[in-house]
Amino acid sequence: MADEADTGGIATQAGAIPSHVAIIMDGNGRWAEARGQARHAGHRAGVNSVRSTIEECIRHGVKVLTLFAFSSENWRRPKGEVSLLMELFLTALQREVKRMQSNDIQLRVIGDISAFPDKLQQRIRASEDATRDNQRLVLQIAANYGGRWDITQAARRLAGAVRNGELDPDDIDEEAFARATALGDLPDPDLFIRTGGELRISNFLLWHCAYTELYFTPVLWPDFDAEAFAAALAAFASRQRRFGQTGAQLGG
Ligand code: IPE
Ligand code: IPE
Ligand code: MG
Repeated sequence: MADEADTGGIATQAGAIPSHVAIIMDGNGRWAEARGQARHAGHRAGVNSVRSTIEECIRHGVKVLTLFAFSSENWRRPKGEVSLLMELFLTALQREVKRMQSNDIQLRVIGDISAFPDKLQQRIRASEDATRDNQRLVLQIAANYGGRWDITQAARRLAGAVRNGELDPDDIDEEAFARATALGDLPDPDLFIRTGGELRISNFLLWHCAYTELYFTPVLWPDFDAEAFAAALAAFASRQRRFGQTGAQLGG
């Protein structure tokens, strides 16, 4: 066992900071409705939590942050809400790329972006290109992302390589499959956080969360601040990740 640190009465393994944190940012609509405001106001307020969570990841030494911004099922929402979400995404990209450069943040967008308006697709590609060499934090935005879409597109990609004679089917193992998913060579998430109180995965990183520690909080996304993030990190640090082994094997 690693050294124990005292963080407000919660036993933690010193240094147990997740390398990759993946978050379902849920609860914007309910946050707004509780204030008698339109759902739009909740999405706008949620942008501040995105900014503060990125800062906290950098401060704590998290290396990869994946944020679920728009699921492959969110197209089922009213048209007006879908367009507002697109607009917020576009304006955030326009505004934040400079800040990403000065903070050494690499942006990657995962999901089927071919369904987005051309202007948004171009902006996404330009932002990814501009930040490609940045090292401090990889920020992945999952947009029109679905875990089943990702597994399906990986299978299609591998099948294409087989058809072209570039790949022997016998060489398709878990590692090769993982590389064909949207995460490519990035590590699986160590910590999954869902705000907003729902206890489900909602088609997020299905392949990649096989051994991820799950953390659910009732805090609504616009209220998810540095303190709420620290609570999630403390919960993570108190877990024993066994990956199939026994506690005794791991010395705990
Ligand atoms: C999450 O908040 C944001 C997106 C799905 C884009 P919701 O809009 O789902 O908020 P609730 O769950 O209705 O409160
Ligand atoms: C999941 O939230 C998707 C995002 C946060 C982008 P939803 O609010 O869409 O999930 P469900 O529909 O309640 O499962
Ligand atoms: Mg929701």
